[in-house]
Parts: sequence; C-alpha cells; structure tokens
Amino acid sequence: MSTDTAQRPVLVVDFGAQYAQLIARRVREAGVFSELVPHTITADEVAAKRPVAIILSGGPSSVYAEGAPAFDPQVFSLGIPTLGICYGFQVMAQALGGEVAHTGQREYGATDATVAGDGGVLLGGTPASQNVWMSHGDSVAKAPEGYEVLASTASTPVAAFGNAEACFYGVQWHPEVKHSDHGQRVIENFLHQAAGLPADWTSGNVIEEQVARIREQVGSARVISALSGGVDSAVSTALVHRAIGDQLTAVFVDHGLLRQGEREQVEKDYVESTGVRLITVDAEDTFLGHLAGVTDPEAKRKIIGREFIRAFEKVQRDLVEEAKAEGEPIKFLVQGTLYPDVVESGGGSGTANIKSHHNVGGLPEDLDFSLIEPLRTLFKDEVRQIGRELGIPEAIVGRQPFPGPGLGIRIIGEVTKDRLETLRAADAIARAELTAAGLDQEIWQCPVVLLADVRSVGVQGDGRTYGHPVVLRPVSSEDAMTADWTRLPYDVLAKISNRITNEVSEVNRVTLDVTSKPPATIEWE
Ligand code: XMP
Repeated sequence: MSTDTAQRPVLVVDFGAQYAQLIARRVREAGVFSELVPHTITADEVAAKRPVAIILSGGPSSVYAEGAPAFDPQVFSLGIPTLGICYGFQVMAQALGGEVAHTGQREYGATDATVAGDGGVLLGGTPASQNVWMSHGDSVAKAPEGYEVLASTASTPVAAFGNAEACFYGVQWHPEVKHSDHGQRVIENFLHQAAGLPADWTSGNVIEEQVARIREQVGSARVISALSGGVDSAVSTALVHRAIGDQLTAVFVDHGLLRQGEREQVEKDYVESTGVRLITVDAEDTFLGHLAGVTDPEAKRKIIGREFIRAFEKVQRDLVEEAKAEGEPIKFLVQGTLYPDVVESGGGSGTANIKSHHNVGGLPEDLDFSLIEPLRTLFKDEVRQIGRELGIPEAIVGRQPFPGPGLGIRIIGEVTKDRLETLRAADAIARAELTAAGLDQEIWQCPVVLLADVRSVGVQGDGRTYGHPVVLRPVSSEDAMTADWTRLPYDVLAKISNRITNEVSEVNRVTLDVTSKPPATIEWE
C-alpha cells in the first residue's frame, strides 16, 4: 500500500494548491491507490516510484507568474498516462508545445462547459453541456499538436484536451470538487478507461497487508499505544492488536477534561469490541491541581501537554519494568499518524500547509521506542472505514474532531471541577440534540464554550439569576483550515437552548457564534 510494497501508485503532483489532497482522495474513492508528491520531483524520481498514472494538480493562477512552480518536462517522456488539472493542464500544454495565453482575466466559479463531439475517453458518458468549477487566470489558447480539443466554455476555447495514443489528458476545471457536476466520472474515466486501472484498492486489503507487516516488524517484542478516545488512535491501536494481540498494551490518560461518557466509551465499548488490554490513568486531580488559577490559554495548553507526558511516562516506566521481568522488552510505540499529517509536515516545497495547530496531547519526543504507524498512507475517511471493519463502535469511528486538551480550552477563564461539570452537561445536551436531529453529518463539529468569567442577569424559575453564558459554535468545514458557521435550523437551536437553560442551573443564556474561520478560529480557547 505504500511505495515500498507491491502497490504501485497514481502519483498526484502537488503544485501548491490545497486541491492536491482532494485529488488523491478522489483517486482512492475510485478504488486506486494514490500518493502525493511535490512538483519538484524529477523524472528519475518519478520513474523510481513506478507509477501507474500521474495527475498534475491545480496551483497558482498563471504559469507565467514569478516563482510559478516548475515541473521536470522529462516526466512527459516516461510514457506514463497523465491527467493535468487546471494549473497542471497548463503546465502540460506548455511542455508539450501548446500555447498558454497570459490573459490576465480570471474565470472563477460555476461555469458551463460544452463537450466537443463524444468527449473522447475522458469526457465520454457525460452530458454535452455541464456545470464545472473553474478557478484560473491564464488559458490554453492552442492545444499541442496531435491533441484533440474535448471541451470549451464561453471564454476558454480549449477547456479540455486529450491524446488517446499518448494517454495524455487535461481539463481546465476542477473535477475533484463536488461543484463540478461530473467530476468524479471524469477522474474515473481517466483512471479506469484511459489508463486501464482496475478498482482494487479497498480497506480490507489494507488490514490484511498491515497485519502481516506489523507481525513481521514486531516479532515477539512488546508494544504500547496511547489512546485518546479519538478515531486515529482507536483505529491504529485496534489494527496493531489484530496483528499481535496481548503483546500490545494501550494506555488511556483521563485528564478530567473529557466529555460526558467518553471514558466509559473507551473503557467499556472499545475494549469489549476489540479485546485490547487497556490501562486507564486516573489523572484528573493532578491536571486540575496544576490548572488551578491559570487563565491564559497558552499556559493552559502547556500545562495539559506537560502533564499528559508525565502521566504517560509514569505508566510506561511500570510497563517497561513488567516487560523486562517477562523477558520481552517494549520496543515499539503505536502512533495514529495519518497521510495528511505526513504530507503537511514536510511534503516538499509547494505543498499546501493545511493544519498547524499546536498539537497538545502529543507524546514525549525522546522516547526510546521505534514507531508503528499503520495509518501513515491513509486519509481520514479510509481510517474510519477500516475502524468499522475492525468492529470499533460507530460512536468512536464516526466521532467528530475533539481537541487533545479537551474541555480545558473550552472554558474561558480558570478551569475548575465545577465549571467542567457545567460545561460537560451543556455539551452533552447540544450533542444529543444535534444527533437526534440527524445533523451530525452536516457539521464538522460543534464546540460548546463556557464563558466562565462572564455573568449576566436572567430569570429562571421564580427568581433572578446571575449565571454564565455558553456559546454554541457549530461549524462546517472540509479540513478545519477554513470553516463557516453552520446554519442550524432554528427549532434545533431553540431546543438546545431551552434544554440547557432548564437543565444546567449555572447557565442562563445560550448564544450562537456566527463567525467564519478566518478571522475566528474554531475553538475559542
Ligand atoms: P482551530 O481552533 O485552530 O481548530 O480553528 C482547528 C481544529 O483543530 C482542533 N484542535 C485540536 N486538535 N489538538 C488536537 O488534536 C489540539 O491541541 C487542538 N486544538 C484545536 C479543533 O477542534 C478544530 O477541529
């Protein structure tokens, strides 16, 4: 499944736009393994990866712009089926002898494209007129010699081209975004029809392959893993357990900043469904002790991160001793690193820098273990699918993002046990109502924030109160880098508000955050 195994990838060349990851995901959705590479890759390096096809992603608006990302034209001589998208389409046109006109005019957003003739292999089976998503400045004015024009728009005469013999194709629009009506079909046409690739990349294969690989890597040694309650650690741990059983011990640090029911979910449901041997560290008092009196958000994050490491190291020392006594040292640590994490931390120049929040809740850096990272080549939706196949409960594999420092960064002001209880109750109501309304798929996540240092007057029951407001922060997002506030139905908001103010006595006001990201972040902190 990665390039050091038999699986040969479709290489997705990243020209610096955030679309490259999306393309790589769409390729996998079509059942074909993909790998992202930076545009600085040389023809020799491409050849060494033995790709079955190449897709050139979008990028800046002009190949003529100063510092526009270059690409080794020798790659086009390797005889590998290639699809150019947007900027990649223009790079291809230029390298193959076509003409790219520096128009200075931008075509942006939904555009009507007209397919020429039967659209060739690339656009075959899609309607003669279709809505596509455009975002470009320059245009291809002339297709390279021997290339057929496959589509046009009102302002772009060459909006797609192809050469069936060379198996080179290009589209000016973005087939990978959902706004392009037949986008996935275009990608599938390229992969299955033009390049002749079968749809045989499935999560079932990944499990088998990883299990074999982990067994080989680990031998009879012992392994530890840190569970956070989140998807990535839950799935990587279960996968390693599937391979080596009780040679693995999982550690779960309860820092007291979890949401209602989360500890039970891990200790009971997860353990029951996977059989993983689990040690829970009850560290609530320690964490709250160190957080007492602290209001600065960065300081809170630092304390939580530091205490997490301390708590983990303590168990780890015990486990190391225990393992030594049994004659099998602990040699490995499981990490739920995903493909986007790999790509974002050093995927080469031109790679979009998607997420860079301080990753509190991480493990010590100087651990004397080798890493097992069975999810390193996978995207989140693939990880969830594997989790389901491993039998992990939906409440865990389908979980929305939740920050490592937990509710600690959702209380604005000092974190105390009472305040945590208040927030936990309000959060549980909001989550339950969103689930009941069937809205979990609509939102990326919905933090509930307690403004613990703010009080306002209210009337509850038969008297005036002086309680705290909570903020609902429902957001929609693709990758958490940008987000918009979700337009939740008023009746759902009303129900959440009524229930919180009735059932959580400390709270007498519920407010809604209607800010996008940027300028605001998702979490309040
Ligand atoms: P912001 O607030 O930066 O959050 O817009 C972006 C996404 O990251 C999550 N988040 C974290 N996740 N450890 C994590 O694992 C953290 O320290 C952390 N801080 C924020 C946040 O919930 C949102 O999904």
